[in-house]
Amino acid sequence: MKSLKDVDKKVAELIKKEEKRQRQDINLIPSENYTSRAVREALGSVFTNKYSEGYPFKRYYAGNKFVDEVESLAIERAKKLFGVGFANVQGLSGSPANMAAYLALAEVGDTIMGMSLVSGGHLTHGSPVSFSGKLFNAVSYTVDPKTELIDFNEVAKLAKKHRPKIIVCGFTAYPRIVPWKKFREVADSVGAYLLADIAHIAGLIVAGVHTSPVGVADVVTTTTHKTLRGPRGAIIMTNNEELAQKIDKTVFPGLQGGPHDNTTAAIAVALKEASTASFKKYGVQIVKNAKVLASFLSKNNLRLVSGGTDTHLMLVDFGEKGPTGKEVQEALNRCGIVVNKNTVPRETRKPFVTSGIRLGTPAVTTRGMKEKEMEKIGNLIADIIGNRAQEKKLKEIAGQIKLLTTRFPVP
Ligand SMILES: Cc1ncc(COP(=O)(O)O)c(C=O)c1O
Repeated sequence: MKSLKDVDKKVAELIKKEEKRQRQDINLIPSENYTSRAVREALGSVFTNKYSEGYPFKRYYAGNKFVDEVESLAIERAKKLFGVGFANVQGLSGSPANMAAYLALAEVGDTIMGMSLVSGGHLTHGSPVSFSGKLFNAVSYTVDPKTELIDFNEVAKLAKKHRPKIIVCGFTAYPRIVPWKKFREVADSVGAYLLADIAHIAGLIVAGVHTSPVGVADVVTTTTHKTLRGPRGAIIMTNNEELAQKIDKTVFPGLQGGPHDNTTAAIAVALKEASTASFKKYGVQIVKNAKVLASFLSKNNLRLVSGGTDTHLMLVDFGEKGPTGKEVQEALNRCGIVVNKNTVPRETRKPFVTSGIRLGTPAVTTRGMKEKEMEKIGNLIADIIGNRAQEKKLKEIAGQIKLLTTRFPVP
């Protein structure tokens, strides 16, 4: 058996380079994380060789004895961890999982209602460029322009006017706690299903630092690779037996063929890791770190959307006249701080340019960074933004960042 570097030197080298990049950079992308070695071992296992269309003990192929066991394990662990009656772990990622959930609850052409992209919703929450805006009649709610918090007057008004089949809550770029019960009230007032997409905050919910929508929303979807720190995958959950059957049928055979059994195995491992006391501590530290980072950005006169954060992420708004998100993302990246440019409420620029950046602490917290490092990183970010045209200064800061990251190994 030849190793990767014997078979394909080029790809082996690219992996080594990516390993080095991940080690040397400070990763502040809120949707990314470092998986454990155990998760990656399961992901790289022989389960990738198997076909297993169907569900545990009801397959269309033979040879699924161990796949059945591993998928059952993932399902049982998901149910226990989130305190829910049903879980489907076959969704290939967050977007296909949302598609499956919508098609289980509604027909093509029905109205769905979600947060607009510029206000912090995900593409799959009704954006016209995604399946969600093409297959469904999508209505978008926004945030209040003053408080930059969800505008429930608008949510209720739009729901009354458009009578959506599904209301989607849970976001991509919203730094505050999501009030599930308020969404439930609106959904009930118009007879809509409530879908909570907890892709970003699943790990925080498990750690008890964000409330859970289980028991409030009809269906809960999540990715497994953000704060939950697993492989790229998804879980769809519900307590409603009828919906559970529809969800299973919509995932397979409705939308997918064979599940990725190696991913299922890695999800099972990640869920075991997420059920430990140390994961709870990790989730608590993510939020502590985010609050300190936010406070040091604010102290450096950077404006945070909604004034701060209660979660793992924050948005900096440079305003119409300030630098663009693209420009700042590039300056930070040159120094070894990785963030993503992001639209902000009242955005005036194009999505590829933007007036803001989005930052989050799940990855740096996995590396063991704490409040002291957040203070340093907050000050360094402000320094880079202030000196973004001074190559010499940026080089000096890049040196400081390299020094900092060598002290915090990645798993
Ligand atoms: C809230 C939310 N839902 C769904 C997704 C989609 O996940 P994926 O990129 O795995 O398709 C994302 C991804 O960022 C997200 O933030």
